[in-house]
Amino acid sequence: MVYLNLAVLAGLFALSYASPPVKISVSAKGGNATNGHQYGFLHEDINNSGDGGLYAELIRNRAFQSSEHYPSTLDGWSAVNGAQLSLRDLDVPLSEALKTSLHVATNKRAGQVGFSNAGYWGMDVRVQKYTGSFWVRGAYKGEFTASLQSDITGETFGSVKIKSKCRRDEWTEHAVVLVPEKDAPNTNNTFAITFDAAGTADGSLDFNLISLFPPTYKGRKNGMRIDIVEALEQLHPTLFRLPGGNMLEGLSNTSWWDWKDSLGPLKDRPGFSGVWDYPQTHGLGLMEYLLFAEDLGMELVVGVFAGLALNGDITPEDELQPFIDDALDQIEFIRGPPDSKWGAVRAKLGHPEPFKLKFVEIGNEDWLAGGSEGWNTYREYRFPMFLEAINAAYPDIQVISSGSYFDGHDIPEPGAGDYHLYAEPDTLVEQFSRFDNVATPHIIGEVAATHPNGGTSWDGGLMPFPWWGGAVAEAVGLVSYERNQDRIIGTAYAPILRNINRWQWSVTMIQHSADPAQTTRSTSWYIWELFAAHIFTETLPATADFDPLYYVTGKSDQTGGYIFKGAVYNSTDGADVPVRLAFEGVKPGTSAELTVLTGPENPYGVNDPFTGTNVVETTRSTVKSGRDGVFRFDLPNMSVAVLDTSPKARWNRGMKPVS
Ligand SMILES: *[C@@H]1O[C@H](CO)[C@@H](O)[C@H](O)[C@H]1NC(C)=O
Ligand SMILES: *[C@@H]1O[C@H](CO)[C@@H](O)[C@H](O)[C@H]1NC(C)=O
Ligand SMILES: *[C@@H]1O[C@H](CO)[C@@H](O)[C@H](O)[C@H]1NC(C)=O
Ligand SMILES: *[C@@H]1O[C@H](CO)[C@@H](O)[C@H](O)[C@H]1NC(C)=O
Ligand SMILES: *[C@@H]1O[C@H](CO)[C@@H](O)[C@H](O)[C@H]1NC(C)=O
Ligand SMILES: *[C@@H]1O[C@H](CO)[C@@H](O)[C@H](O)[C@H]1NC(C)=O
Repeated sequence: MVYLNLAVLAGLFALSYASPPVKISVSAKGGNATNGHQYGFLHEDINNSGDGGLYAELIRNRAFQSSEHYPSTLDGWSAVNGAQLSLRDLDVPLSEALKTSLHVATNKRAGQVGFSNAGYWGMDVRVQKYTGSFWVRGAYKGEFTASLQSDITGETFGSVKIKSKCRRDEWTEHAVVLVPEKDAPNTNNTFAITFDAAGTADGSLDFNLISLFPPTYKGRKNGMRIDIVEALEQLHPTLFRLPGGNMLEGLSNTSWWDWKDSLGPLKDRPGFSGVWDYPQTHGLGLMEYLLFAEDLGMELVVGVFAGLALNGDITPEDELQPFIDDALDQIEFIRGPPDSKWGAVRAKLGHPEPFKLKFVEIGNEDWLAGGSEGWNTYREYRFPMFLEAINAAYPDIQVISSGSYFDGHDIPEPGAGDYHLYAEPDTLVEQFSRFDNVATPHIIGEVAATHPNGGTSWDGGLMPFPWWGGAVAEAVGLVSYERNQDRIIGTAYAPILRNINRWQWSVTMIQHSADPAQTTRSTSWYIWELFAAHIFTETLPATADFDPLYYVTGKSDQTGGYIFKGAVYNSTDGADVPVRLAFEGVKPGTSAELTVLTGPENPYGVNDPFTGTNVVETTRSTVKSGRDGVFRFDLPNMSVAVLDTSPKARWNRGMKPVS
């Protein structure tokens, strides 16, 4: 009955009540091979999404690190049982890199005293193995107690006694292995170390590098937080841009992200100013990032410092060579043979096999900092000097400029460009045709829907979370990039993580806190996951026009599947869009899996970590091609869909990206 009424109305008001079917005929030939690393992300330690996020360390401010821009502080630390805590730069520091340590003073009759750490706004405590260590200087006969307890009730969930190895004038390391007896009910917990004041010479001891890790992803030492990596891994990422954007540039030309400072034992890492108003540990260093990328099978896009800092410091031409040498060293560290100078350093750090590296980006957004001189110097000498030196040493590396053709930047051959887009949904949709047949290859190095339509304002106007309407527009963007896979090297969502206790940029793929229950996959996550789970090895040309259905078609030689990816954005009067899809060479009666993602009625619906609701609905069904070989299905307004004739061959861990 309803159907009949609609049909009658549709006849009368053809354009306003029902859309005509979109007829898509896909040819078997005439497409382009794809590169297999289309979907990925940028990570940078923006407001505790590295330290306190991806990096699993539980102790905040573990080594009292200072930097050019921030002094050492006692942030995160509290005294236990009346001890006095202060910072000292001893004549004999723990190391050159870690000069400041914690002085714990009391008197010999004070009993059990010490200090506790509040973690990155809490600690997840459960029955599992925690490992760590701390360094002590000073004489002490007795035992240390390391414990995890509630900050609210004081209840101890687990503790361990560690026999002192202390000597008067030496720094000695004490290992901690702690398995709590019970799970804590929430994350309002602290980690404490105490000692018996009576066993000390004068009631005081000095401590440094107090570190504690829960189990990490793949059990890697100094590794990543399991639940966060799992949320990333389940996105099937194949591209990873590191070590961030602004972070790479640094606040000034004396404090950029120096990869050499991020290698080796933690006690030799001085830390880093960062650019987000807090000192960083550099525990999440280059090697950790490389292992992480390897574990997840991601192609690397490594950014190298290019002589421009956020404050506008620009390296003059005659002072640039050391930075070029540094970039060449970094590339050698990553992919040089184990008997090369820097390859040997990597081998010594446990990875003799070279990592794979094909993409190196010179700087970050060199058109933004430094006014017009930023880009002028980049165009005149900075980019050309890096390009020439890197390609002379590594002809197979695709060097990427930090500017883009789409923003009017010239990119000398054989460089590629990098386009960044933080935008309203409508902008992503309006740019749909922008990438067709562009001559210069590009990465889309940062992209996200960030503002509501009509709402672009950079002082606080971001949406509070990724939202459904924005995510659908991202899908339209992804389709437009994937259609041009011969030219668009890959696409990175940015930024990927947000610590909801300490954020400064609200729209990220995944939200997190100390509590794994708050690790939240956003609306965008579901869309990127779906598209990345169905990788083409070849795009295939198709006939139909776009709007309101934006789509791309292709096939996978790895699975044998023919694949359609599409998004409906603002259909006529919000009606469903009937799709008639035929692939040349796909027989009548062929089964395909159709996955359709739909969102809430309100396009501003979000996945909020505080409520835990998921507004994205996933519907999977089997569609059979008719006697004419045509797959028939309807897609609702504001929906995203994938049809795949080899559903069983959906992404699996064993499936390697195409090279
Ligand atoms: C527990 O920790 C959370 C997150 O840091 C905080 O918002 C909350 O107020 C804490 N609860 C109590 C009772 O301290
Ligand atoms: C650092 O920046 C200052 C100020 O812009 C400049 O004078 C100096 O040459 C720069 N040095 C290097 C090595 O980049
Ligand atoms: C989509 O619809 C919304 C709401 O009706 C409107 O604000 C927006 O401009 C439309 N965008 C396009 C590209 O049609
Ligand atoms: C980001 O971190 C800095 C330093 O911890 C802090 O001052 C700032 O308030 C944070 N931003 C927000 C919005 O939390
Ligand atoms: C393949 O690439 C060429 C050149 O960029 C382009 O003209 C053509 O449209 C592409 N074909 C498909 C199916 O994307
Ligand atoms: C499609 O859905 C969006 C989001 O719900 C809505 O804003 C828009 O008005 C719909 N399009 C039309 C033309 O109804």
